[in-house]
Amino acid sequence: MNIKSSAIVVFSPTGTSRKVALAMCEGCGYPSRVVDATYKTPDELTFAPDELVFVAVPVYGGMVAPLAMQRIAAMQGSGTPIVPIVVYGNRAYEGALSQLDGFVTQRGFVTVAAAAFVGEHSYSSKEHPIAVGRPDMTDIADARNFGKRIAEKLSAATAPQAVDVTQLVPPRDSLWSKLRFVFFILRQRRRKKPAVKPVPIVDDERCKGCGKCAHLCPNGAISPDGRHTDAHRCIKCCACVKSCPVQARMFNTPYAPMLSQCFATRKSPVTLL
Ligand SMILES: Cc1cc2nc3c(=O)[nH]c(=O)nc-3n(C[C@H](O)[C@H](O)[C@H](O)COP(=O)(O)O)c2cc1C
Repeated sequence: MNIKSSAIVVFSPTGTSRKVALAMCEGCGYPSRVVDATYKTPDELTFAPDELVFVAVPVYGGMVAPLAMQRIAAMQGSGTPIVPIVVYGNRAYEGALSQLDGFVTQRGFVTVAAAAFVGEHSYSSKEHPIAVGRPDMTDIADARNFGKRIAEKLSAATAPQAVDVTQLVPPRDSLWSKLRFVFFILRQRRRKKPAVKPVPIVDDERCKGCGKCAHLCPNGAISPDGRHTDAHRCIKCCACVKSCPVQARMFNTPYAPMLSQCFATRKSPVTLL
């Protein structure tokens, strides 16, 4: 196949999906462009058959982050080769990769390769670390190498060959970790839901009102001075928490300690070609 260029379509509030996709794209060696869907719906989402597309999104609750799906809903290919990539916080990616594959396949793309990588969990903190620093150097090297192999496969083929993403075997957890997490979820479900959805809180003494958090919120949920968060718009991505220069924002969730305890064992990326 004569691929002329590549494009990365990405939704990545805390930047891990973006890092993985950039490394993979760099590895494949074609001239590339980034179509960023993190802050708004991109104007142009139509792709030519001689372009290789990487679409990278985070996993939320075992599925593709719903706002990502909304933002990329207009994607359209015409027999265009594509690599769906899901990035998850070392717990599980569950149905997300099949969902993304089904979505792109219905829109005129051919899935020629697929991958699930680990990124630092959005809820990770000093107290409750979850996959800290991922993707790390090893992940990035794996992503680059995978990109190189994709390019080699495409240059040897006459037409894009679809892969079956259900063949990808996810990393396993110990039975103990899985059971502990399932019981925790069941307990959470039995609890009375709070009247207002939980959102990151602001330490008013630390906050300088710089507005960086408001600028980086993918859904416009934060007031320009950073002091108020609209619970209906907040997607809990924690971009505001991670980007605050004075650590004035925190998201207190019972999930963080549980995830930190149950999913401390490093999971490696899984790829399909
Ligand atoms: C609301 C929410 C739900 C999440 N659900 C999962 C999940 O089901 N499994 C998992 O392993 N990680 C989960 N994560 C962690 C993210 O998938 C992970 O941090 C990812 O690297 C974020 O991607 P980004 O840096 O591109 O925003 C969740 C994060 C958030 C904010």
